[in-house]
Amino acid sequence: MKISRKLEAFIFDLDGVITDTAEFHYLSWKRLADEEGIPFSRKDNEQLRGVSRRRSLELLLKGKELPEKKMQEMMDRKNGYYRELIKTITPDNLLPGVEEILEYLKEKGIKMAIASASKNARPVIKNLGIEDMFDTIADGYSVQKTKPAPDLFLHAAKEMGVEPPACAVVEDAESGIEAALAAGMLAIGIGPEERVGKAHYRYDQVADIELEKILEVSEKV
Ligand code: BG6
Ligand code: MG
Repeated sequence: MKISRKLEAFIFDLDGVITDTAEFHYLSWKRLADEEGIPFSRKDNEQLRGVSRRRSLELLLKGKELPEKKMQEMMDRKNGYYRELIKTITPDNLLPGVEEILEYLKEKGIKMAIASASKNARPVIKNLGIEDMFDTIADGYSVQKTKPAPDLFLHAAKEMGVEPPACAVVEDAESGIEAALAAGMLAIGIGPEERVGKAHYRYDQVADIELEKILEVSEKV
C-alpha cells in the first residue's frame, strides 16, 4: 500500500538502520545466553529488534520467571558487553547510503530526528560523528512506553514541531513499523518482508531507499 502526504521530517531508528549495532546487541545477548546455558539463535534475535532491554531479556527467557535481582544483574551484564562493543564505533560504521541520505535531506531543508529505544543511543551517535545532523534525538530515556507504542515517534515529531502525518519513519524492526503506523506516519521498512512487510515502502537496505520517488509522491499532495 502506498499513501501520499507532504513530508516535512524524517525520523530514523538507530540500531540496524543508521549503523549495524543490531549485530552488537545480538552478540551481547548471545554471550549472556551462552553463559547462562540458554539456547538463543539469530532467528530468536529477530524478535528482539527495536524492543527495550527488559523486554528483550523477557523474550530471551521465553516466559521463564527469575527474581528481579537476577534479571537486573543479567541486564547489566549484557549492557556491559554492549558498551564494550560500541566503544569500537567510528564514522566508518555508518551503513551504506546513510551519509548520502542524511546530506540529501538536509539540503532539501527536511527536518531529521533519531528515535531509538536504546539508552545507549547518544554515545553511538557521537562515535558515528553525526550528532549535528539531527534536530532531535529521542532515546530510551525519552518516553515510558516503548515500541510498538507510537510514543517515541510522537515525541520526536513534537520536539521538531512537525505534525505526525508529515513524518516518515525509517525502521528495521517489526515493533518499529507497528509504532510508526500507530503514530499515523509514513513507514519505510528496512529488511525482509516477514519482518517489515507492513510498512508503506520496504527495502533490503538503506542504500536502496527511493528517496526522490518518496518525496515526489509526497509533494504532489
Ligand atoms: C533498540 C534495539 O534500538 O534498543 C534493541 O533495537 C535494544 O535491540 C533496545 O534492546 C534497547 O537498547 P539498550 O541499549 O537501552 O539496551
Ligand atoms: Mg532498529
